[in-house]
Amino acid sequence: MPKKKIVALGGDGVGPEVMEVTCNLLEQAAFDLAIVKPFCGAEAFKAQGNAFPDEARKLCEESDAILFGAAEGPSIAILVYLRWILDNYINLRPVKYYPGASSPLKNPNGIDFLIVRENSEGMYPGREGELSWLAQKIPDYKDPFGRTLDYYGAGKFALRLITQKGTERLARYAVELARQRKSLGFAGKITCVTKSNVLRQSCGFFRKIVEEEVRKDSALRIEHFHVDDAARRLIRFPREFDVIVTSNMFGDILADEAAELVGGLGIAPSACLGGKKPYFEPVHGSAPDIAGKGIVNPTAMILSAKMMLDHLGMEEEGRALEKAVAEVYRLKELLTVDQGGTATTKEFAEAVLKEIQ
Ligand code: NAI
Ligand code: MG
Repeated sequence: MPKKKIVALGGDGVGPEVMEVTCNLLEQAAFDLAIVKPFCGAEAFKAQGNAFPDEARKLCEESDAILFGAAEGPSIAILVYLRWILDNYINLRPVKYYPGASSPLKNPNGIDFLIVRENSEGMYPGREGELSWLAQKIPDYKDPFGRTLDYYGAGKFALRLITQKGTERLARYAVELARQRKSLGFAGKITCVTKSNVLRQSCGFFRKIVEEEVRKDSALRIEHFHVDDAARRLIRFPREFDVIVTSNMFGDILADEAAELVGGLGIAPSACLGGKKPYFEPVHGSAPDIAGKGIVNPTAMILSAKMMLDHLGMEEEGRALEKAVAEVYRLKELLTVDQGGTATTKEFAEAVLKEIQ
């Protein structure tokens, strides 16, 4: 089998820091990968005014998978390419507790669920504008109070798109995932999260499509919570969840909340799938408050690489990587600052490598 071709794009802020140690780790573990690291991101923007040179884009097109760090300013161009141009409409965000990680819960043991977030529509990317402009375009539109938009005077609007195609393809993926997990002993339950009590049309539509898709498989269960209730349940009943499926912005918010249950953003990985080329990135952003200090927790990036290995059919390597990470947490000797430790980014990654070797 030819080596899998991986493109590593660090991006902005802590992105390049977590990317560097993760690539070193994958290379030194001697996994069968050919990793290329094109000049891009904040560095490239500074040098040549372009964070995503054509060369980098070409390498992405020829790759088997892409690793991405984080975007803050310049690298948003990369993010737009990875998410929207490649059409990666699924954002898979596992929430799993590794004993030793710093959770605010008294008992985080056994937390292990997935958030399937719609990644391409809903409120993102921002489709916004002047309210007066919209009022002119749709003078006959009346809101639930019977008011036309010009009633409200100066202001802004944001559009939220929930499409049939977008929701159906997401629901199908979530169903397949729940099925696979059920065969491994998980509950076989999908939790649909919306705000259908208020956004009756858009959230109601999303909910109906998801419920219909799940009901096609009689072995699976479906439940639904409004997003505010779901936010509370995540903290109170974290072990009740199996596969959560939700729209873009709700998923974005709930995933950061859920990450805290199991130790925080430093630990939360993700995969962006379904499009022309998959990419894998931490849930966290560029963390400007700690960038450049060498203390960022690279676990989220490392576990994103684990998701990539699984996706590429390298499950054995993926398991080895996850086991090594879990062991470093269990030992609690070389954890980063966010986990209450004193280890640097590099020291943590080296400890993971030592566990693999
Ligand atoms: P953030 O995720 O960058 O940081 C939130 C907090 O968590 C900060 O205090 C940060 O230090 C901490 N944190 C995050 N990752 C950590 C890690 N690996 N280890 C230790 N601590 C960590 O979110 P924030 O501050 O809202 O956004 C900063 C920038 O990142 C913004 O420009 C935002 O747009 C961008 N962003 C980009 C994302 C992406 O590239 N996919 C995702 C989220 C935010
Ligand atoms: Mg986010």
